[in-house]
Amino acid sequence: MEIDYQLSDDVREKIEAEANKYPSRRAAVKSALRYAQQEHGWVSEGVVNAVAELLSLQSIQVFEVATFYDMFYTKPVGRHRIRVCTNVSCMLRGSTDVLNHLKEKLGVEVGETTADGKVALFEAECLGACGGAPMLICNNRYVENLTPEGVDQLLLELD
Ligand code: FES
Repeated sequence: MEIDYQLSDDVREKIEAEANKYPSRRAAVKSALRYAQQEHGWVSEGVVNAVAELLSLQSIQVFEVATFYDMFYTKPVGRHRIRVCTNVSCMLRGSTDVLNHLKEKLGVEVGETTADGKVALFEAECLGACGGAPMLICNNRYVENLTPEGVDQLLLELD
């Protein structure tokens, strides 16, 4: 189990810049985890410990944030993360079909990563783009008004 992780100088600088915006360094935990996850791919115990040390916090104070928000991955995930919104607007506009299409194309269930480590599939709560329902977020990109053809095109674009 990885308990030590070294944040890059670049990430450390970004986290320091965030921490300097707030009266409390604890307020920067979410931003810090976001930067650390972008670099490491997921939030390991080592990442939690490194962020805690940098922000002068207890590891549990960082861990509780990492496990509260579902955009933080506390286990290794695929290089590309697809999160299909299955909340009301998207459900009414066909997100169940979109999700089933993705499961079939990728050969995985929700929460799993393809055998080649390329794509992880998740469900998401409302992502604030109901006007483009059904939609998903792939890494940091919103893809709206989904159709099976649109999903296939998206998968082709992933390296
Ligand atoms: Fe899907 Fe709001 S319900 S984006």
